[in-house]
Amino acid sequence: TKKISIAIDGPAAAGKSTVARIVADQLSYIYIDTGAMYRALTYTALESGTDIHDEEQLCHLLKNIQIELKQENGRQAVLVDGENVTMEIRASEVTNSVSVVAAHRTVREELVCRQQELGKQGGVVMDGRDIGTKVLPQAELKIFLLASVDIRARRRHKENLEKGYPSDLEQLKKEIMLRDQSDTEREVSPLKKAEDAIEIDTSALSVEEVVERITAMAKERI
Ligand code: C5P
Repeated sequence: TKKISIAIDGPAAAGKSTVARIVADQLSYIYIDTGAMYRALTYTALESGTDIHDEEQLCHLLKNIQIELKQENGRQAVLVDGENVTMEIRASEVTNSVSVVAAHRTVREELVCRQQELGKQGGVVMDGRDIGTKVLPQAELKIFLLASVDIRARRRHKENLEKGYPSDLEQLKKEIMLRDQSDTEREVSPLKKAEDAIEIDTSALSVEEVVERITAMAKERI
């Protein structure tokens, strides 16, 4: 059977990674979390004292590190030069700096290039902000996931508490709005629904329902 490419974009905390991971699993496709790559660079920059506003330094740093996305017993592990940073890249310091890092043109060029390399064989579910518009413009299926800020913050809050992470709902709401604003308003590949993307508002849907809709559409295209 043919192996298609599936692009899943949308604002922060819309459930993209949860849904993308399950869809990939059901189709035996590879899941690629592109946000994790921007986060891995951000984490490495913060650790090494690199100024996240200095595009040249950041790009130099990026060209010297290897970022690996590994499937480890069903979960995706993120490695920078072999070091496991899966947990570290979710820290709030990283979350609150990543949109600054992701706004730099040359940083995006390099990461988009790596992402296209990872996706060139097809059989991938890739999630991010610019997958349908920039990374995989030829993807056979493009999804744009949406939900209100309120619902997204509540879901993320619940998830944090379940994982035992500290969490503040109002703070989360502010951070999500800020990140959406920078991601939407940046000059290079802003967050935007591709013309041929199918929009799914997940506000009133369960994870299972969203997954089911996407896999059904995928199967029509295989
Ligand atoms: O998906 P996640 O929320 O982990 O992404 C973190 C950040 O990385 C986003 O807020 C955005 O600034 C950036 N990003 C991006 N393009 C992508 C994926 C993520 O700019 N394809």
